[in-house]
Amino acid sequence: MQFKLKKLLVTGGAGFIGANFIHYWQKHYPESLIVNLDLLTYAGSLDNLAGLPHPDRHIFVQGDICDQALVERLLQEHEIDTIVHFAAESHVDNSIKDPAIFVRTNVLGTHSLLEAARKAKCRFHHISTDEVYGTLGPNDLPFTEATQYAPNSPYSASKAGSDHLVRAYHHTYGLAVTTSNCSNNFGPLQHAEKFIPTVIRSCLEWHPIPVYGNGSNIRDWLYVEDHCAAIDLILRQGKIGDVYNVGGHNEWANIDIVKLICDLFDELKPREQSYHSLIRFVTDRPGHDWRYAIDSTKLVKALHWSATMDFKAHLKRLVLLDLGII
Ligand SMILES: NC(=O)c1ccc[n+]([C@@H]2O[C@H](COP(=O)([O-])OP(=O)(O)OC[C@H]3O[C@@H](n4cnc5c(N)ncnc54)[C@H](O)[C@@H]3O)[C@@H](O)[C@H]2O)c1
Repeated sequence: MQFKLKKLLVTGGAGFIGANFIHYWQKHYPESLIVNLDLLTYAGSLDNLAGLPHPDRHIFVQGDICDQALVERLLQEHEIDTIVHFAAESHVDNSIKDPAIFVRTNVLGTHSLLEAARKAKCRFHHISTDEVYGTLGPNDLPFTEATQYAPNSPYSASKAGSDHLVRAYHHTYGLAVTTSNCSNNFGPLQHAEKFIPTVIRSCLEWHPIPVYGNGSNIRDWLYVEDHCAAIDLILRQGKIGDVYNVGGHNEWANIDIVKLICDLFDELKPREQSYHSLIRFVTDRPGHDWRYAIDSTKLVKALHWSATMDFKAHLKRLVLLDLGII
């Protein structure tokens, strides 16, 4: 089924991936109207939306996805045909300190959006994470869409809860939904609290680089624009009711990424002492998942998606940007 995609409600569009998606969408579909609903928590910033190619086609609304009356009003007022749902509490460490806000935003917030979408008969795309599948051992095959859910942190449990609600709204009410479960993203506009920005900032400020445990935890890294391209394909050609895994087949141990960034700084901004001397191993995160890896075969075969990224080149570009060289 073809959906219009003329008027989108994007939630969390002042955050990292949501803002990158709005830049991407305006570049490719300048005629679309985007209503961006974001609460502007500590993680969101209007600076992320500076330089949009078509600011007149972007309406920013500061508000809470849990406010169902507000969402219903926005859907009606702007005749929204599609909701693209990014808004979430997204940092695992914060979810260990304060799980309640994760349940509120990620579960109850998604529920309020689904209810509003059901009433307005909107298409609904839900952005989720590979973390819902739990952790892998060294010889396990990557997660597929058929992998059993086994979330281990309050963050991943709240995202799993939201995924189940999305599924249920399709099966019970026939809502036109799709879900994508993506691996770790990196790229411009990512919040300072996340792993790669923390390492780059520590090098810039010549501060110790904290590395959890022995740094052996493995993540599958995807450039954010490749994620946006996957969402675009799913919105236009995805099968309603389906789930798509998105990942770059790009597994790295945390410590190897830290070393790579230190090498980049040694090359681009050399000091007397190497940046490697800043590495400090710190007490591991409780319940830290050891390995994530995503099998994106379904997305590649069904929708002909591919990750275009060259991981090292993108990482170098981020460092050059932060050094003010480009
Ligand atoms: N970053 C990753 O590597 C990654 C990987 C896979 C999936 N995801 C998922 O992608 C989505 C976006 O992640 P991100 O890294 O851009 O997150 P982020 O933390 O950078 O941004 C989240 C945005 O949501 C907004 N927000 C939070 N609570 C809200 C509420 N109640 N109402 C309205 N807006 C609210 C924040 O203000 C912020 O702008 C999340 O659903 C996350 O679970 C992220």
